[in-house]
Amino acid sequence: MDTPTRKLFEQHFTGSPTYFAFAPGRIEFIGNHTDYNGGLVMGAAVTEGITVAVSLRDDANINIVSDAGDLVEIPLGDYQPLAGASSWTNYPIGVTKVMAALGMKMPTGYNMAVTSTLPSGAGMSSSAAFELATAKALAALYGYETDTAGFARIGRKAENEFVGMPCGILDQGVSAFGKANHLVKIDCATETFVTEPMPRGAHFWIFNSNKKHALVDSAYADRHRECHEALAQLQTDHPQANNLSQITEAQLLGSKSKLDDLLYLRAAHIVGENARVRAVESALLNEDLKAVGATLNASHESSRVNFENSTEELDTLVELLKLQPNVYGARLTGGGFGGAVMALTDADFGQAHADLIAAAFEAKHGLQPSIFHTRAGDGAKLL
Ligand code: GLA
Repeated sequence: MDTPTRKLFEQHFTGSPTYFAFAPGRIEFIGNHTDYNGGLVMGAAVTEGITVAVSLRDDANINIVSDAGDLVEIPLGDYQPLAGASSWTNYPIGVTKVMAALGMKMPTGYNMAVTSTLPSGAGMSSSAAFELATAKALAALYGYETDTAGFARIGRKAENEFVGMPCGILDQGVSAFGKANHLVKIDCATETFVTEPMPRGAHFWIFNSNKKHALVDSAYADRHRECHEALAQLQTDHPQANNLSQITEAQLLGSKSKLDDLLYLRAAHIVGENARVRAVESALLNEDLKAVGATLNASHESSRVNFENSTEELDTLVELLKLQPNVYGARLTGGGFGGAVMALTDADFGQAHADLIAAAFEAKHGLQPSIFHTRAGDGAKLL
């Protein structure tokens, strides 16, 4: 196999790679910030992702080289998150640390070369793809066994505990369980993962606004905290609720006076979003893409108004997309505070339509969005 990953590996290391692993990026289809609130979410793995090539070394070092960065050398067992230009290695090193803590024996270090076909910063979770590709490759290299959910949990633990991002299981779960032409539905309370077919004729387009909120990570952590504060206030009326997803719409309305106004909005987003995931699921079963699209639009509106994790740029993209007759619906995808919008379109939506939207967006914001058409692909695997 003469892949770019093999080439990169052989430019930097002696010998050939022993294993290659690939893991995809993801689209968040519906279910925004529901994952760390014990809720429901649907996503799709995409066909683009991260490939790693690995081999054992005979010393106690880990050497990692990427197609975008320098070679970084880390002593086996000396795992500290790095800042600055080498911080991209926190994903594989976090995974290494988690797997070692789970009992994976590493008598010597490893070489790793990594390449990506995911557009950078497109809000499609290249970080989860990197974590899952690493976990698959290291499991093969060091003889460690777990199931698909186990791989997803390793990635999330690395992200939560090493990278320091308090994410839920969405990104890693979808990257692990993805299936061509299918959506992955996750019940995050029970960590149950099921795949459901995409109706024929449904297409995904990603419009990356190329604009990021300066403090994306802290804004995400703020929402995480606000959701927990909202739950704590709701627990005075509903002590049995363990998370916001166990609160019904009627209970939330009934307890409105017990909640700070801002926390009410955050809770309304989560409670409503779970209902929207259910609505999308039944509309998909009926192959009613118009109803699916209307619910995607409603999800974006709730992000804009209740969760306040949209941006002007994302709102512009959604509004422009909604005007297109070939678009069923559009919404921000992922954490928000910048990043990308996902559009669900029919088969006739094409590059010419996308270019018109890009031109209107550029006229308003002076920024060129990156656009691409993708489809639901398979989950993480050894190649
Ligand atoms: C990011 C996180 C996910 C999820 C989404 C919002 O992608 O990594 O865990 O919380 O935001 O739904």
